[in-house]
Amino acid sequence: MIKFVLVRIRQCIIRALRTLSIAAFPERANYHYVPDYYGHTAYKHIDIRTLPVFGKCASNAIANKRALLYYDRLYTIYQALLHVRNLPASPNGFNIAEVGVYKGGTSHFIASLIETVDLKPGSLHCFDTFEGHSGKDIRTELDTTHEAKMFGDTSFESVRDYLGRFNNVKLYQGRFQETCDQVALRKFHFVHLDVDIYEPMSFALNFFDSRLVVGGSIVVDDYGFLTCPGVKRAVEEFVSSHLNYYSLHLITGQNILIKTSQEV
Ligand SMILES: C[S@@+](CC[C@H](N)C(=O)[O-])C[C@H]1O[C@@H](n2cnc3c(N)ncnc32)[C@H](O)[C@@H]1O
Repeated sequence: MIKFVLVRIRQCIIRALRTLSIAAFPERANYHYVPDYYGHTAYKHIDIRTLPVFGKCASNAIANKRALLYYDRLYTIYQALLHVRNLPASPNGFNIAEVGVYKGGTSHFIASLIETVDLKPGSLHCFDTFEGHSGKDIRTELDTTHEAKMFGDTSFESVRDYLGRFNNVKLYQGRFQETCDQVALRKFHFVHLDVDIYEPMSFALNFFDSRLVVGGSIVVDDYGFLTCPGVKRAVEEFVSSHLNYYSLHLITGQNILIKTSQEV
């Protein structure tokens, strides 16, 4: 009886707060709330944090406070990376790239997965200015929430030291448009693009296109984010002129581009 009364009181409080546009939810350890377009069955989903390999690599990357991505988006990268094992390797192994490294959080996650799921002797090629956005790349009409030097609170040296224990990681400092030549002769199996703005995103998509093996994928971060309209524009332009890609907009905000044939 007391329990019933307490539940009713709680419901009344929640309803009253809602009339004031305040959303209140019963607290549950380790949970936060998602939009209701997930449907009522969302509670049946597996907890991806408990998956042995993914959970450990993701938890480490998140605990180090260097990654801007959380479990949801890291899980997309994890799945795309697992698929790499099914692709034919190049003579020098699997090549994986990340453009937009910042403090090295997602690169660390990818490097530890490469090690754990045995994608060796491949290399992870990591590109960033390590000084934040370049003024040359900002299109003020598109990249409205971004400005020069944003993400500048990092350095090449600190990321080099952070990723130092992985001997398959190569770092390239500078605008991707100016450093990419160093990998121009390689074939890639998986690419993570996380630059937030139009110019380097558009450039990187076109750069990796001819260098991505068939069946390989490019995960584009921030595609569905209201704060990154330049990313959406770059992907849409790319997809409209490259019909040999599946483009999947995920509810994580990422877009995954899967190359289905060499050309159409
Ligand atoms: C959102 S951060 C990347 C976050 C990172 N992936 C993580 O969560 O660990 C975006 C990064 O893109 C980089 N960036 C922007 N334009 C670039 C360009 N033209 N060449 C290389 N890096 C660029 C910025 O310097 C910044 O570090």
